[in-house]
Amino acid sequence: MNLLVVFFSLSLAALACDIKVTLKFNQKIKSGFARFKFFNETYGPVYEYREGANNLPQHFRIKGLFCNMKPTILETYEVDPRSGDAKPNKTTQAFIEGFGVMDYQIGDMHTPYVASKIGVFCGFGDCGVSHG
Ligand SMILES: *[C@@H]1O[C@H](CO)[C@@H](O)[C@H](O)[C@H]1NC(C)=O
Ligand SMILES: *[C@@H]1O[C@H](CO)[C@@H](O)[C@H](O)[C@H]1NC(C)=O
Repeated sequence: MNLLVVFFSLSLAALACDIKVTLKFNQKIKSGFARFKFFNETYGPVYEYREGANNLPQHFRIKGLFCNMKPTILETYEVDPRSGDAKPNKTTQAFIEGFGVMDYQIGDMHTPYVASKIGVFCGFGDCGVSHG
């Protein structure tokens, strides 16, 4: 095969992402709101979670090119961010890249973190592991 083609495909693979994301909620969570700000600077939907409720995992996909040029950020709020100029209470951000699956979790005190990842390269951010 043409070396240039190989090189180009490798570079493209390294500059793209297609990640199946699951957002999970701790059992003892306090009520709040969460939303993602993606690397392309658009926001995902607002997820509301409730104390004492069975907050079901949310599934979606992050897909695009040049995914790690900007961070992907998960923000949590005590006040609905759709209600105006609410500031996030907690955030976790990471520069992500690759093809795989990734679990984000929201902990007891609205603390978002990366719970696990497979096939996803993550750098310059909160990439998980430390929160267990
Ligand atoms: C930004 O990226 C997210 C996640 O891949 C995607 O759902 C959304 O449609 C993208 N927005 C634009 C404007 O491309
Ligand atoms: C969370 O943010 C709201 C304002 O958006 C603020 O009123 C509240 O005190 C914050 N809570 C914590 C625990 O920082």
